[in-house]
Amino acid sequence: MESIRNIVVLTGAGISAESGIDTFRDAGGLWEQHRVEDVATPEGFARDPQLVQRFYDARREAVQQVEPNPAHDALALLDRQWEGELLIVTQNVDDLHERAGASRVLHMHGELLSALCSACEARHKWSEPLLGQPACPGCGEQALRPDVVWFGEMPYEMDRIYAALRRADLFVSIGTSGAVYPAAGFVRDAREMGARTLELNLERSEGSYWFEESRQGRASKLVPEWVAEMLG
Ligand code: APR
Repeated sequence: MESIRNIVVLTGAGISAESGIDTFRDAGGLWEQHRVEDVATPEGFARDPQLVQRFYDARREAVQQVEPNPAHDALALLDRQWEGELLIVTQNVDDLHERAGASRVLHMHGELLSALCSACEARHKWSEPLLGQPACPGCGEQALRPDVVWFGEMPYEMDRIYAALRRADLFVSIGTSGAVYPAAGFVRDAREMGARTLELNLERSEGSYWFEESRQGRASKLVPEWVAEMLG
């Protein structure tokens, strides 16, 4: 597409669903199995750290058992071949974008395969459980928590995201319900700054109204089709 040079792609749990990772709000999703207040807030962690560590330990282990799907592969192909600006802003804490080969990826809600020390604020690549309270490799304190953004906490790298939205000619949202801000507001920000907007989702999201175009279907089909269009 001749007039499009800078692209921002927002991804959510729906892009990893076909890899076997539960989404949050679909039938049988994580938020039907667990109370958000208990496992995804700083207050819940203070109240029962073992419950929270067990929850993320299970997700950390699960993500290491699954593989990227054709939607991740297609975005990685776009990342390799797109000469303009591209930023894949993911709300997902799995590493499937990177394992598919994408490098222009920003994890605004953190990463499961990373541990954050509450004492020295260092981050460490982490694939093991945190339940046993292992010591921080940096400061030695037993203060490691999942490096995941909980409700009530600030998402990561918001300045970088807004800078990319300001420069974007096209904003594409894939596999997200549009239920959680600030990510759910990006489509309006992008549109107000002149970008074209496209939604690829199994069903219309809560913010579907704001998209110029909305395509429904599975990410493993819609994303490769869209990438083929972009790469001509
Ligand atoms: N292909 C495309 N879309 C899909 C697929 C699929 N195979 N399967 C599900 N979806 C869509 C659903 O229709 C839904 O709109 O993906 C969306 C998943 O929505 P959520 O479960 O709400 O996940 P997400 O939008 O990523 O959640 C946002 O909320 O709980 C917090 O921090 C967490 O990052 C997460 C944020």
